[in-house]
Amino acid sequence: MAASGIPQGLAVLTGAGISADSGVPTFRGEHGLWRNFHPQELATLAAFCRDPALVWEWYEWRRGLIGDCQPNAAHRTLVKMEGAIPQFTLITQNVDGLHRLAGSQRVVELHGNIWQVRCMQEGTVTERRDHPLPEIPPRCECGALLRPDVVWFGESLPPDTLQAAFDAAQSCQVMLVVGTSGVVEPAASLPRIAKGCGARVVEVNVEATPISRYADETILGLASIELPRLWTRWQALP
Ligand code: OAD
Repeated sequence: MAASGIPQGLAVLTGAGISADSGVPTFRGEHGLWRNFHPQELATLAAFCRDPALVWEWYEWRRGLIGDCQPNAAHRTLVKMEGAIPQFTLITQNVDGLHRLAGSQRVVELHGNIWQVRCMQEGTVTERRDHPLPEIPPRCECGALLRPDVVWFGESLPPDTLQAAFDAAQSCQVMLVVGTSGVVEPAASLPRIAKGCGARVVEVNVEATPISRYADETILGLASIELPRLWTRWQALP
């Protein structure tokens, strides 16, 4: 494979930055705050047990913001890459569902999906796209509280999901890292694992991150501009 041609095995790791150009606030950006709470204060089981209505009000705010957002050119470029690259895995930390909405098929949602709820008693997962929810906090038919089906701080990632991400990182030729600050584990380790297994690491971000230190290439710019450009460049080379 040429350093810049189309890789035959591509793993992509995305973070909040890829959805920023769709209008979804990032976690650590200036618009990530709600009523002066940091996400780390609300996205925990302890916060939910203490005040489920407060946590759900925050999720309703986020669901409202995301519900109006559409995939952008970066999401759409990854759909094109998936169609052209035999070994392709998209690993996302985002819970917004925009990759699937854009048409991506092979998506590993590491941190869950904000449009799904999980019964605290039975563990059953169902889709809830209605917004605003008629009842805050929402309840399951069994009477137990429903929680967003997302991974909170201090919680483990589902083992199958994590294994799929590690497998992709260990077997890819190129790992493309888009719009993540690279500070939340275990996602942050995936590019390093890929690099350790011989993959080339290409990063797209508006600023340098801890991943930039070992990435083979860091492209500074907006994901919605730079990803289509990168795809054009890869296609142009043998
Ligand atoms: P962050 O908010 O930490 O980082 C977003 C990254 O996107 C930053 O590095 C920005 O520089 C970059 N960025 C912003 N706008 C961009 C654009 N238009 N194009 C390209 N890059 C851009 O979000 P994540 O790294 O996704 O976890 O955060 C990781 C995890 O931390 C989240 O999944 C969430 C959070 O706590 C859980 O909820 C478990």
